[in-house]
Amino acid sequence: MIFQPLSLLTLALAVSAQTSTKIVLTNDDGWAVAQIRAQNDALKAAGYTVVLSCPAINKSGTGSSTTTPTVLTSPCEFNTCPTGSPAEGFNASDTRLNYVNAFPVDAVRFGIQTLAPKFFNGFKPDLVVSGPNIGSNLGSTVLVSGTVGAASEAALEGIPSIAFSGATGDQVSYTTLTTSPTSVDAKAALIYSQLSVTLVNALLASPPPILPAGISLNVNYPSTSSCTSAAAFKFVLTRINSNSGATDVQTCGTTHLPTESSVVGKAGCFASVSVFDASTKGDVTAATQGIVLAKLASLLTCSN
Ligand SMILES: *[C@@H]1O[C@H](CO)[C@@H](O)[C@H](O)[C@H]1NC(C)=O
Ligand SMILES: *[C@@H]1O[C@H](CO)[C@@H](O)[C@H](O)[C@H]1NC(C)=O
Repeated sequence: MIFQPLSLLTLALAVSAQTSTKIVLTNDDGWAVAQIRAQNDALKAAGYTVVLSCPAINKSGTGSSTTTPTVLTSPCEFNTCPTGSPAEGFNASDTRLNYVNAFPVDAVRFGIQTLAPKFFNGFKPDLVVSGPNIGSNLGSTVLVSGTVGAASEAALEGIPSIAFSGATGDQVSYTTLTTSPTSVDAKAALIYSQLSVTLVNALLASPPPILPAGISLNVNYPSTSSCTSAAAFKFVLTRINSNSGATDVQTCGTTHLPTESSVVGKAGCFASVSVFDASTKGDVTAATQGIVLAKLASLLTCSN
């Protein structure tokens, strides 16, 4: 038998291109913040195929707003593109890093409809990861969150999605990850991105479909001030809105899930995982919560 290292390598690459989960990564804080680049790095390091498609500038709090992307009339955030740059652009040295000069919904739509076919050999993305957002998106805040808006758009387009948010950090440039790796912002970005990979891994380890149609997850991480490594965090199934009259899926000895605000606000480094309907951005039935509970059984714990 003739040893053919090159063709073996080609075969291995072809197989991995087909089997590696394809992710569109988006946010509302803009394409050049540290948190989204840390998430991009962490997903790639975990073996995922990632294309980043985010707003050109900070579009925090813009919910499900949408518009036609326009030529830049001022520079991209942190001067990452000059005035006059095209409505959609990319990093010439890493063309998988893309901006869209519009809202988060428009950025994720461009990622799903235009970038994914190009970078994923005509395939749709398997999953959309939105965030981690800089700042929590808990309770009624989900209604104005661009992070949740982008995740909802993905689910409505038939792509499973997760919105992630973390309490710690400011909107700082991705260059902070290398210039000040021990800063609070850089460390929080690394911890949250690792946790998000943990959740994505757990979800993908369960049998398909990744999530029920039209359903998305809202995940919130507490502050890193007393939770200083990813290992310190635990995930808890929650609901977005308080509703004492609702019967939730039975878990942790009750049929009333705790609210995400109460869980994230508790001592003990609990991250909340709420299951929501992408069209209403509200809580779902006990049966749908149960599907996610079963999928994430190995990850979820109780906060009571
Ligand atoms: C980003 O936009 C939000 C919402 O308008 C605003 O509150 C925040 O201060 C902005 N961030 C920066 C760094 O300007
Ligand atoms: C573009 O990618 C190169 C290579 O990874 C990197 O050095 C540079 O900082 C990136 N710039 C932006 C705006 O993403």
